[in-house]
Amino acid sequence: MADGYNLHSNRQASRRGRLPVSGLSPAEFEAAREEISSWPNYRPTPLVSLSGLARASEIASLWYKDEGTRFGLGSFKALGGAYATGRLLQSKIAENAGRVPSFAELRSGMFRDFTRNMKIVTATDGNHGRSVAWGARMFHCPCVVYVPRLCSRNRELAIASYGAVVVRSTSGYDETVNECAHDANENGWLLVSDTSWDGYEQVPGWVMQGYTMMSSEVMEQLGPDAPPTHVFVQGGCGGLAAAVCAHFESVWRARAPRFIVVEPLGAACLYASAVAGEPTALHEESHTIMAGLDCGHVSALAWKILFHGADFFMMIPDSTVPDCLRLLAFPPFGDAPIVSGESAIAGLAALLYALRNSKVRSRLGLCSKSKVLLFGTEGDTDPDRYRELTGVSAADIRARAAAFE
Ligand SMILES: Cc1ncc(COP(=O)(O)O)c(C=O)c1O
Repeated sequence: MADGYNLHSNRQASRRGRLPVSGLSPAEFEAAREEISSWPNYRPTPLVSLSGLARASEIASLWYKDEGTRFGLGSFKALGGAYATGRLLQSKIAENAGRVPSFAELRSGMFRDFTRNMKIVTATDGNHGRSVAWGARMFHCPCVVYVPRLCSRNRELAIASYGAVVVRSTSGYDETVNECAHDANENGWLLVSDTSWDGYEQVPGWVMQGYTMMSSEVMEQLGPDAPPTHVFVQGGCGGLAAAVCAHFESVWRARAPRFIVVEPLGAACLYASAVAGEPTALHEESHTIMAGLDCGHVSALAWKILFHGADFFMMIPDSTVPDCLRLLAFPPFGDAPIVSGESAIAGLAALLYALRNSKVRSRLGLCSKSKVLLFGTEGDTDPDRYRELTGVSAADIRARAAAFE
């Protein structure tokens, strides 16, 4: 397809294959929801109706779950890394203390004698590391975060602001994940990765359970009788897409929406895996300006769900990013202005492409009755990059949004 867009229909898609896999059951979604919704300063993020854009696009409704304000960290990733950090500390402390401490007890510092001798580590393009660093600080545990060589300075500083030691690798994202896992193994550190591989699934499973706080909110905000017809969700390693897919399927069953996974052209490992019918790493180092999606290896756990659970895989080019950021910042059809980030707009970009291409529109089954859900997974997690790409400051857009209300 032209201009860096591609669409792949998943022939393996089957509702049966979406049934819960180990570590992602309804009871575990509920446990994550109960826990995270009790954290200090918890507030659901807004589900914004882009009704003007929906009308102009001749679809019934368009919803954008805006994660820019999540726990003050700027992205949905705040949910997963911090939750998994708490769960991992719980299980390690239980081995020595003889009982499982609650998250509230971990937060209170009651188990500091244990946690100060432990070390939480992770590798990240930015958002996951921020979440893990925040969680480690909340639970009084030292933390080291590995970032790839091209991680933006602002994202590195944001991680360090939570007290984590940041190690800048000389490699790209996938190699940085390997280096971090190797060092964790050598030193007995506690690895909190958001991607998984054979033999390492429990922690990434907790990360994914944390993400379903967001899908729980969406279900509540939409109301139980109103599942969307289509969900466009962006993929890095696939953890987010798989968590949302499994969660929606477990609740909505036969009414679950069509599921479209969207990736950047330069980092489309899920797309490549879908075409090959098995997990397939990119030959070359991945590269995209959508930093959160810059990933060349699928998560093994996520793949188990998406292999059957995703109906379509799409690729979008980086060139669409500035236009989509500006479309949300300066909505032409009377919707509220929104500050988004480079990785937040992938679903929107794919939808807009489908809407202006009649073949793609009809393959996806988009029509005047369609109710579409997008996940705006981050705000301006790098404010300088936001200004560079849009020509405006996020503060200006927020002021316009406040005036709009
Ligand atoms: C803002 C944002 N959106 C989407 C994703 C993709 O999530 P996953 O890697 O779980 O597929 C990421 C990953 O870091 C992200 O930071």
